[in-house]
Amino acid sequence: MRFYVPTRIFFGSGTISHLKEIIDERFKASRLLLVTDRGIMESGIADKVISQLPEIHVFDEVEQNPKYTTINRAGEWVDKLKPEVVIGLGGGSALDAAKAIALLATNSGKIEDYEGKEKYISPPIPVIAIPTTCGTGSEVTWVSVITHTERMFKMSIKGPDLFPEVALVDPDLLISLPPDLIASTGMDALTHAIEAYTVKAATFFTDIFARKALELIFPSIERAYKDIKGEKVAREQIMLGSMLAGIAFGNSDVGSVHCLSEAVGSLYDTPHGVANSVFLPFVMEFNLPVAKDRYAEIARLGGIEEEDSDAAAQKLIQKIKALSKSMNIPSLRDLRIKESDFADIAEKAYQNNSNPSNPREAGNKDYIAILKKMMHES
Ligand SMILES: [Fe+2]
Repeated sequence: MRFYVPTRIFFGSGTISHLKEIIDERFKASRLLLVTDRGIMESGIADKVISQLPEIHVFDEVEQNPKYTTINRAGEWVDKLKPEVVIGLGGGSALDAAKAIALLATNSGKIEDYEGKEKYISPPIPVIAIPTTCGTGSEVTWVSVITHTERMFKMSIKGPDLFPEVALVDPDLLISLPPDLIASTGMDALTHAIEAYTVKAATFFTDIFARKALELIFPSIERAYKDIKGEKVAREQIMLGSMLAGIAFGNSDVGSVHCLSEAVGSLYDTPHGVANSVFLPFVMEFNLPVAKDRYAEIARLGGIEEEDSDAAAQKLIQKIKALSKSMNIPSLRDLRIKESDFADIAEKAYQNNSNPSNPREAGNKDYIAILKKMMHES
């Protein structure tokens, strides 16, 4: 049994104001690169970094489901710029892009050359990850997910050197996040915790983090969605829950929900959290025969008082469906998945590295059956 999180975590309201102090203390670096997206630049959040580090170089071209071409473009730039530290600021896309760009700062070639586990030659330059959503967990994981658009495939680039050196987690950064993103990224965090707790790779250590994440996320997600500004405690709880869920799945794994949502994301550019929310209850129904007892435990952590495990697991699935509905998360129909793509989605889900971790063996035909059932019931 192994458990590894080398990232130094700074958590708390207003922590972002200590960024310069942390950099001066830990890195003594002068050439810094900020990797973010245009939305973060326009929202004013990036100013909280730039005002402390006026000399910082900025790459703000990261898109949702970051593309390999974007990373390679930034890679060519960092070849000349030679930054010493990369700061990733944003949701999972910006943080994953920061990790990948930091890797290209010390390794020649293109990002697709490093697809897989520990394919790099030199460790990347240090990354400071500053999440601005409550779902990714990327600030405490060793993986960067980058979309290869021609292959329509999400590549995982990972290795023990890809953990951010520092995670600076400030729940107040959620204040300007629109409610639909609180909902979808919060559901991503919930999915991380549920999958980390039920996959074959779950361990004693990851259970501790997954359970605590669930205890934090269940009571806070709707409150955060309704009033992120007014609900300080919920804001802190959902941000902590998201990070703990990241530590949990980073050391165990995710399962079929992520296999399906990554397949759909690579084909339709669907937001990751939205796809997870849609697939979560249906994959849970599929997993029920082997994961009933664990789902019942999760149900109890979520406040469902039901002694019978079958009934508790069923109530949990209904609760998750209701949660998505109450937060107006799009349904399967809104994703506009074509039935003619089912075979391709199923194949991609089956080929996903995390597919073997799912608690119930899921083959090509199983994924097609899940998709058909979803279509029928939506
Ligand atoms: Fe995720």
